[in-house]
Amino acid sequence: MGLARWAIQIILLWMFLASVALAVTNPADTAALRAVRVGWTSSNLNWNGDDPCGGWQGIGCDGQNVTSLDLGDFRLGGRLLPAIGDLVNLRTLILAFNPLITGLIPSELGRLSNLEFLGLNSNRLDGSIPPELGLLTNCTWFDLSENNLSGELPVSSGIAGVGLNNLTSAIHFHLNNNSFVGRVPEEISVLPNLIHFLVDSNSMSGEIPAALANLPSLEILRLDNNNFSGPFPNITRLSGTLHEIHIRNNSFTSFPDISSLSQLLFVSMGLNRFPPQALPSFSTLRNLQSLELDGSNLSGDPSALLLISTLETLSLASNNLNSTLDLGNTSPSLTSIDLANNRIPEVSRAPPSSSYSVTLGGNPACNTPNLPSYINCSSNALGNEAWRPRQNCSSTNRICPREEIFNEASCTCGIPYILRFQFNAPTFSAMTSDRNEALRSEIARGTGIFIDQVWVDNFVFTDNFRFNATVAFFPPVGVRELSDQVKTDILRRYVLHTIDLIGFDPYHVFPIDLGDVTIRNGNGGLSAGAIAGISIGAVLVVLLVAGYAIRQKFRADKAKQATNPFASWGGGGKDNGEAPVIKGVRSFSFADLKKATSNFSSSHEIGVGGYGKVYKGFLLTGEVVAIKRAQAGSMQGAHEFKTEIELLSRLHHKNLVELVGFCFEHGEQMLVYEYMAGGSIHDHLMDQSKVFSWNKRLEIAIGSARGLSYLHELANPPIIHRDIKSSNILLDEMFVAKVADLGLSKVSMADEGKTHVSTQVKGTLGYLDPEYYMTNQLTDKSDVYSFGVVLLELLTARPPIENGKYVVREVRTALARGGLEEVIPLLDSSLEGYSARDLKRYLSLAMACVEEAAAQRPSMNDIVKELESLLGSSGGFRGSSIGGGEFHAISLYDDDSVALSSAGAFEYSGGYHISSKVEPK
Ligand SMILES: *[C@@H]1O[C@H](CO)[C@@H](O)[C@H](O)[C@H]1NC(C)=O
Ligand SMILES: *[C@@H]1O[C@H](CO)[C@@H](O)[C@H](O)[C@H]1NC(C)=O
Ligand SMILES: *[C@@H]1O[C@H](CO)[C@@H](O)[C@H](O)[C@H]1NC(C)=O
Ligand SMILES: *[C@@H]1O[C@H](CO)[C@@H](O)[C@H](O)[C@H]1NC(C)=O
Ligand SMILES: *[C@@H]1O[C@H](CO)[C@@H](O)[C@H](O)[C@H]1NC(C)=O
Ligand SMILES: *[C@@H]1O[C@H](CO)[C@@H](O)[C@H](O)[C@H]1NC(C)=O
Ligand SMILES: *[C@@H]1O[C@H](CO)[C@@H](O)[C@H](O)[C@H]1NC(C)=O
Repeated sequence: MGLARWAIQIILLWMFLASVALAVTNPADTAALRAVRVGWTSSNLNWNGDDPCGGWQGIGCDGQNVTSLDLGDFRLGGRLLPAIGDLVNLRTLILAFNPLITGLIPSELGRLSNLEFLGLNSNRLDGSIPPELGLLTNCTWFDLSENNLSGELPVSSGIAGVGLNNLTSAIHFHLNNNSFVGRVPEEISVLPNLIHFLVDSNSMSGEIPAALANLPSLEILRLDNNNFSGPFPNITRLSGTLHEIHIRNNSFTSFPDISSLSQLLFVSMGLNRFPPQALPSFSTLRNLQSLELDGSNLSGDPSALLLISTLETLSLASNNLNSTLDLGNTSPSLTSIDLANNRIPEVSRAPPSSSYSVTLGGNPACNTPNLPSYINCSSNALGNEAWRPRQNCSSTNRICPREEIFNEASCTCGIPYILRFQFNAPTFSAMTSDRNEALRSEIARGTGIFIDQVWVDNFVFTDNFRFNATVAFFPPVGVRELSDQVKTDILRRYVLHTIDLIGFDPYHVFPIDLGDVTIRNGNGGLSAGAIAGISIGAVLVVLLVAGYAIRQKFRADKAKQATNPFASWGGGGKDNGEAPVIKGVRSFSFADLKKATSNFSSSHEIGVGGYGKVYKGFLLTGEVVAIKRAQAGSMQGAHEFKTEIELLSRLHHKNLVELVGFCFEHGEQMLVYEYMAGGSIHDHLMDQSKVFSWNKRLEIAIGSARGLSYLHELANPPIIHRDIKSSNILLDEMFVAKVADLGLSKVSMADEGKTHVSTQVKGTLGYLDPEYYMTNQLTDKSDVYSFGVVLLELLTARPPIENGKYVVREVRTALARGGLEEVIPLLDSSLEGYSARDLKRYLSLAMACVEEAAAQRPSMNDIVKELESLLGSSGGFRGSSIGGGEFHAISLYDDDSVALSSAGAFEYSGGYHISSKVEPK
């Protein structure tokens, strides 16, 4: 071991000396780099001096020649100039993830005949693909995905021409998420090595050429989200290789015959124009893990499909399935079955284990009373919530020294190197512990480290069947941090895809920090610890040396500044009291949050309230968060702040906005919450261009009711929110409603035998429980009242108090006057898709919530049940339903009473007066 270390140091020293001796870069390459540089704007590209191979950022050399240019995720802007074609020695070109790079791809790029790896993905390039790129005959990785490229895919016509069909070394074609038009050219079906053909999310059309089935190596075919049409060709010849087929959301008119493709793991074919037919049993697909065939005009019985023993997720929503569902024999692998909006009359036998639920909203089966718990009568299968591995350390003390993070894999602390991965075509659509273990072990194997140095977390599936995850590479036990050299090597190997993660390819990797640091040349030697941890084997020594041999100079991320989840309380603050036991809530340094918000710049502001401002922040881990920063006058004492965090940290429910962490440093008090991309329902309802369907409104009501019901009935101790209103109900990107802003919450005393808490009245005008403000006695029924007002707001899309009219009184009067008829004019004119019967039930529920006597109001639990049953009976449908207009994040985390200032100032701090105009009577 000692010998190995000594040997490495000698080798590195020799390499360093060699590099000093050769420190004059090929002048033609130097000139070309300077010419390319002219096209770019960048605040942090540091290309100084005369010797690119001697330390310019992102440059890698072989001897004197520049062989790699990697400026991925470097905040470059500007254009790619034709001079790029003069870097004739380049083997690797990566300019990915610089969304400010615009303009055309120069045809001169085709002169880089040595190029093996082209990564121009995730920029904003436009124009069409120059046919000359077909000259890159040594290129294996060809990635132009996620740009704004248009035109047809160029192919050679005749002997003289050149096009994508000449890329005979290509293994990966990633052309997805652009604006390409035209057909899939028949000519590409000769490429012998192509395994991934991704053209999803473009505007391509026409029929798919039957010759595509001649691709001898094709494993993943993604044609989804285009305008392809016609009958789907016979692809039986792909039966030996094809793992994944995605043709969802096109206009194919015949159902592909996939029965002989026994290697298939993932089939996504929904939303086409298939003619009516009976659901096939797919019994020959013995490896199938995920099947998605919603909106496909299928009738018959899904029960046989459920026997495929590898099947994990099944979506057959919005078909015409009409037979009794038998769950008695289902595969043990199943995690989710979505059969919403079919015509299934009943379920005959229960599943052997109820580890999954069956979504049956919109089926007659949901109209039966006393449904068992494995039946979900909403019309949405579970949303895309992050999947998190179980923490496996019994140790209750997860508190680490400052800057270190608890490693759940080894149950020790260390500073990890963190990368964010996006997996572009996973063969599955549900995460499981086994799969997580497989991924960890692939990463450990590929990186050459022990499995307990790898922790993978935060798996999020995207709408189009990709998924993201965060990977932490920890130093070995007993070592604080990996050396920069090792980090560089890890990054290099993942960025260049020299590692196949078997079962998880292809992927993209994102360093979590922007690179403004250049790695020093490989002359520093490795720390003893890093070597010990990396591997004892010579294999790795070889890899490491190979890593340095080409003198890649990648930036390091500054893992030293990585977030510190479990730092002791008040590390830099004044309170030096004991660390609170706060599981899962992170202590952020002021510097972390400053960085996350570009120094609290106004461009990050997403809300203002009495408490202070709310910022959108980007953490080093890749997470997006909302940071609520208390302003000078509104800080609490250290003790109260701590108590609040302890309280909030205990609350976990999918319908509550989750507290991620806090900061208590530099005299600041900040709370860090998960970011809610969908904004508040208040903002939605007030925006005429965004229309919620009846079912969506019910789903939002159910989500928020569940969150509240959790606070009242399951949280320990029970909690009264005290400020329920439409601006405190936020939507995530999947439109799941979550209750926010528990800042005013009071611990309910019910568990101590009292039934109420006496307290100064707080809350928001229009939502206040009249009994509470008359008696100062707070009960959970005060939240029920406010929730009733929100229910009415969901119907009327108007603020509770408008022009002096109070919605509760308006509706009550209208009902008394003439029943339902009279209420209709008060409703949101864009509300559609409900029956009079449903409306009546909804209204009677809302009116029960706003009963003046608290005792007559239902409990949150009753409300949840009634709303669920309403949704079941109204035949919910899959998919969300925002009509009219682009949907984007808007101001959220609206705080306290400030939003009301336009409706009339209202002072809560004692001596308040409620004008008789608005007093609910
Ligand atoms: C460097 O590039 C030049 C052409 O620019 C070529 O002649 C030479 O062989 C290359 N050297 C190495 C070591 O590849
Ligand atoms: C392509 O790669 C092969 C070996 O992998 C090499 O022999 C050949 O010279 C390369 N072609 C070009 C044009 O660089
Ligand atoms: C994408 O390109 C089209 C023209 O092809 C242009 O109209 C559009 O503005 C571009 N979009 C972006 C986001 O640059
Ligand atoms: C491109 O491929 C086509 C078809 O194989 C061939 O006829 C043409 O000569 C190739 N072009 C070049 C420049 O090699
Ligand atoms: C599809 O192609 C396979 C072989 O390529 C052939 O055996 C089969 O008969 C074809 N199916 C149809 C319906 O033409
Ligand atoms: C289901 O629908 C098919 C086609 O509409 C029909 O032939 C069949 O009789 C129906 N089965 C049941 C059980 O209703
Ligand atoms: C996945 O990661 C990519 C890159 O960071 C990001 O653009 C995308 O929004 C992420 N998707 C989800 C659902 O988190």
